[in-house]
Amino acid sequence: MSKKLSTESYKGVRDFYPKDQALLNYIIATWRGVAEKFGYVEYGASILEPSELYKAKGVENEEIVNEQTYTFTDRGEREVTLRPEMTPTVARMVAGKRRELGYPLRWYSVPNCFRYERPQRGRLREFWQFNADLFGSRSPMADAELIAMSYEMMKAFGASDSDFVIKLGSRSYLDSIANQYTLSQEQVKALTALLDKRAKMSAEEFDKAWAMFNIPASVLGADAVPADVAETLRLLGSMGVANAQFDPSVVRGFAYYTGVVFEVFDTNPDNNRALFGGGRYDNLTELFDNEPLPGIGFGMGDETIRLFMEVRGLIPPYIPPVQAYVALASAEVLPEATQLVQELRRAGVAVAQDFGERKLGDQLKAASKQQIPYVIIVGPDELMAGAFTVRNLATGTEDHVGREQLVPYFAALKL
Ligand code: HAM
Repeated sequence: MSKKLSTESYKGVRDFYPKDQALLNYIIATWRGVAEKFGYVEYGASILEPSELYKAKGVENEEIVNEQTYTFTDRGEREVTLRPEMTPTVARMVAGKRRELGYPLRWYSVPNCFRYERPQRGRLREFWQFNADLFGSRSPMADAELIAMSYEMMKAFGASDSDFVIKLGSRSYLDSIANQYTLSQEQVKALTALLDKRAKMSAEEFDKAWAMFNIPASVLGADAVPADVAETLRLLGSMGVANAQFDPSVVRGFAYYTGVVFEVFDTNPDNNRALFGGGRYDNLTELFDNEPLPGIGFGMGDETIRLFMEVRGLIPPYIPPVQAYVALASAEVLPEATQLVQELRRAGVAVAQDFGERKLGDQLKAASKQQIPYVIIVGPDELMAGAFTVRNLATGTEDHVGREQLVPYFAALKL
């Protein structure tokens, strides 16, 4: 016998068995619901992008471009990358039709993204990422709107205000520090990278690295709130978002951010991490033409919010979309059972059926393994009487339901 293949998935990616897929679908439906309440419309694009999109100056996050992209050469010698994020793609799409679009433009998407990361809790090589972006506004209301949407996302997943905190930083503030202390571009990059990694370092490690810049630690104090952050916080307060605060060490990794940046943190000590984030990027569409179009948005991964829900018991129970399983008391009723199944399906009941290859007890076990809530038992007696036993597999209770009553019976259950 030849060596058998592994049933494991590729390193760092996930298989979605039906229960996992149902949870992902729930997460995506929640994202869509909130985004559409805010007046955002959905767009999409291919997973594949020309690699140059991520190498352009102004886009690059050195860690992502140099170490984390899945890049290959296609049969036509073109360098291709599996998208590690959506922002360069959406900037490309908006720039491509800039004159036809109306501003402020509100778009959202739910792409899968690929990053060659070291797989660990909350960090994967393929993940789903909700993106919301607003183009064509310099108003601080735009910053506030995206942060308010982030807040509503958390609420929609069942979070209360004390479960998370929204930390705002400012790239323009960072620029003013750079000016004041005459830092070189290289130093600004290093400073941004250091601040971005701060949460993952010990206090000693951070202080040691910080000392190299010769900047007083007081600039990291939360007293001197930059003007753009202060205004955004004020607007958020007026929109009912109270758990947002200034945190000077929130800078975010991408080079394209220019203004307010933010990250949402889990406050639970067992899951103390940044859940998602975003910020203002006023110049990204300049890659494609000479008229900059300001943008602001955020990206939110499925795995980080799943962990958040898991820690708090917020994951909804799995209910398969199948309402009933038609089991056969004996194999010879298969043709009549099939007719009944078709009748039910046409009337809107979601039904799976047995083909009579296994004993009734095994059919019930299989339905139960698949977590199908109800079984309709069909045998010669039932067909003769025109009434069936409907068993609730979770409780074991049974009802006798006339053929004509089956459709209203399942409609009333609202499964
Ligand atoms: P990002 O911080 O790289 O930003 O990713 C945003 C979120 O995507 C993360 O906070 C996390 O929830 C999820 N995520 C990122 N990488 C991974 C990974 N390897 N495994 C699991 N989840 C991950 C961006 O991508 C920006 N493009 C967001 C943005 C949109 N800014 C403006 N508009």
